[in-house]
Amino acid sequence: MEKEGRILIVDDEIGVRESLRYLLRHKYEVYLFSTGEEAVSFCQPGYFDLAILDIKMPGMDGIEVLKRLKHIDPDLPVIMITGYGTLETAQAAINLGASGYISKPFEKVELERVIDEKIRERKRKLEERIRLLQLEEAKKKLDAEVRKAYSSTLESLIKAVNAKDSYTSSHSQEVADLSTKILCGLDEGVKEEEKQIFHYVVSLHDIGKIGVSEQILRKTTPLTPEEWEEIRKHPIIGAEILAPIDFLRDYINIVRNHHERFDGKGYPDGLKGEAIPLYARIVCIADAYHAMCSDRPYRKSLGKEKALEELLKGAGTQFDPEIVKIAVKILEKD
Ligand SMILES: [Fe+2]
Repeated sequence: MEKEGRILIVDDEIGVRESLRYLLRHKYEVYLFSTGEEAVSFCQPGYFDLAILDIKMPGMDGIEVLKRLKHIDPDLPVIMITGYGTLETAQAAINLGASGYISKPFEKVELERVIDEKIRERKRKLEERIRLLQLEEAKKKLDAEVRKAYSSTLESLIKAVNAKDSYTSSHSQEVADLSTKILCGLDEGVKEEEKQIFHYVVSLHDIGKIGVSEQILRKTTPLTPEEWEEIRKHPIIGAEILAPIDFLRDYINIVRNHHERFDGKGYPDGLKGEAIPLYARIVCIADAYHAMCSDRPYRKSLGKEKALEELLKGAGTQFDPEIVKIAVKILEKD
C-alpha cells in the first residue's frame, strides 16, 4: 500500500521511537533518529512531510533541532513531544514555528488525528506552491510572447516609416543609437527592457511626419510660416499614432516632446527645464546633433567639431546642460 507521507522522528529513548514507529508504520514511511545531529544532516528540503521531536535530548536538544530543520525546510510541520516538565518549553517551541505538541504517553487516536491534520495541511501548502509556480511560469511565458508580438509590431512600424525615404531611415536609427548611449550614460542601471523600448520609440520619433505633406518635407527653399505650422504638428500626430499601444504609454513623450527647448521656447507644449520629460530631453540633443552632422538638400554637414560646439552653445537654452555634458563626453569618444 502506498504510504501517505514521510515522518522524521527524533528521540533519544529507543522505547519512544519504537512505539511511534509501531503506531505510524502502516500509514507512513517512518525515519527514526536517536540524535538531533543525525536527523539534521539527513533532512533535505521537501523530503519529509512532518517531523516529531523530543525536547529533552543529550547533545542537540529539540528546540535546536526545530530551528535547524526550519532553516532547511521552512514549511515543514514540526510536532514536539512533551513529557513531564517540558510543557512550557513546548509552548516556546510553538513561538519558534512548531505546529503543535503531543504529550507522553501517546493516545493512538489523538496522535493520528494531529499527524493527519498536519500532513494534510503540508500537502495543501505544497500543492498551492506548485500551482503558484505554474501560474508564474505561465505568466512569464505569456509576457515573453506579448513582448515578442509588440516587438514585431514596432519593427514593422519602423520599416513602414523608413521605407518612405532613406534619410529618415538612417537618421532615425542613428538618433536612436545615440539617444540610447546617452540614456545609459545617465543611468548605468537602466534595464534591458527599458533600453529596448526606448530605442524602438526613438526610432519612431518622427513618425508623425507621415501626416505632413511630402511637398513641405522635401522642400529645399525656406518654408513659409504656414508650412512651418504644418511641420510643427508632427510631434502631436506622432503621439496620436502611438497612443493606442498601451505598453508605450511611458515612452510616448519622446515623440510628443522631442522638439521642446530647455528655455521653454520649443513646441508643441512649450514645456520648460525639467518639466520636459527626461527621455525627450535626451532625444532632442541626439536629434539636433545628428541633423547638424548630416548633409541636407539645403545645407552641408557642419562636421563633428562644429556640431559639438553648437551643442555646448545651446546648453541651458535649447538643451538640458547636464545631458549635453554627458552627450559631448560620449560623442568625443566616438
Ligand atoms: Fe522631429
